[in-house]
Amino acid sequence: MLPWFNNDTFPLYLAPMAGVTDVVFRSICKELGADVMVTEFVSAEGILQRDDRTRHYVDFDEPQRPLGVQLFGSDGVRMGEAARKIIDWKQPDFIDINFGCPVNKVVSKNGGSSLLRDCPLLASVAREVAKAVSIPVTAKMRIGWDSQSVNAVDVARILEDSGMQAIAVHGRTKAQGYSGHADWDVIAQVADAVKIPVIGNGDISSGLDVEVRRAQTNVSGIMIGRAAMTNPWVFREAKHYLTTGEHLPSATVEQRFDLMRRHCLMAIPRSTRGEFEVMRSMRTRLMNYTKNLQGGKFLRGRFSHITSVMELEDIMADFLARKDSLHDLGTAGADPVEETESVSQPE
Ligand SMILES: Cc1cc2nc3c(=O)[nH]c(=O)nc-3n(C[C@H](O)[C@H](O)[C@H](O)COP(=O)(O)O)c2cc1C
Repeated sequence: MLPWFNNDTFPLYLAPMAGVTDVVFRSICKELGADVMVTEFVSAEGILQRDDRTRHYVDFDEPQRPLGVQLFGSDGVRMGEAARKIIDWKQPDFIDINFGCPVNKVVSKNGGSSLLRDCPLLASVAREVAKAVSIPVTAKMRIGWDSQSVNAVDVARILEDSGMQAIAVHGRTKAQGYSGHADWDVIAQVADAVKIPVIGNGDISSGLDVEVRRAQTNVSGIMIGRAAMTNPWVFREAKHYLTTGEHLPSATVEQRFDLMRRHCLMAIPRSTRGEFEVMRSMRTRLMNYTKNLQGGKFLRGRFSHITSVMELEDIMADFLARKDSLHDLGTAGADPVEETESVSQPE
């Protein structure tokens, strides 16, 4: 049994999110109460062929443990080799295999969710990776390819028989992308069908959500993705709710600004690209942190051009000075959350 499921603990996982859950964001979520984390997905071929460009995806800091590195690919033997290379570099606590990615670039090469349509290949991928390494291997899957072929229970049994030690289930099909709702009935069926821990995933954004899904299903943990992107305090809020039954107040504007500043200041020295490029790549991240904030539309407008920390300080000071009038603008504006997975790594 993976130790983080011992003694009736009910771990909250930070979901792997490509382009989001990098080493800096993971340390923020860890501080705010996430128990287990998984890196964004990493191409097994990238690890084997272009490790100079891929290696930083598997980077992590010790306090982030227990941490898994997530691999995608379609050749179990090659993925096993990549997993061994990663273990040599970084000794993660587990390897996680991606059976859920809907992105064409991955699916067209039989990786990610494509394997849900080919159970013999899926079993061989899982078996080969588990055979290749001496640390636990887990899997993350969607509930099926499309609504006509929801096969999560069968797939979960196959994964259990192939040596997976836990399975995270995102309750959507590949065809759904991020539309509609996660199907927690299917997640519940999976949790009843296998003995290994099942981690439920999809549309969780509060402690109440966690409590409800925990009560309705036999899942052993919950994984949170997009809600953490906009509100990384969700882990702290959820834990507080689970222990006290009371809702913590949402993060204040000052707490959000502190977090934005810290996120940028942590990201810049970690990068070789310099402040200008890092701040450009922080634009969406900063916008995400403004979701549901009164006057958030004003901030998103300003963050969409940001290029320096000094500019961030100016925008925040300006906002605080004009807060009352900006409040009238409400929280309106385009939903800042990016809901697509993209692969920018070498494959
Ligand atoms: C921007 C983005 C990137 C993602 N990247 C990955 C990934 O690298 N690996 C993976 O298994 N799932 C990935 N996902 C899916 C999430 O891990 C999660 O399953 C999904 O967002 C549903 O959970 P949520 O409703 O809590 O967001 C990604 C999702 C988003 C929004």
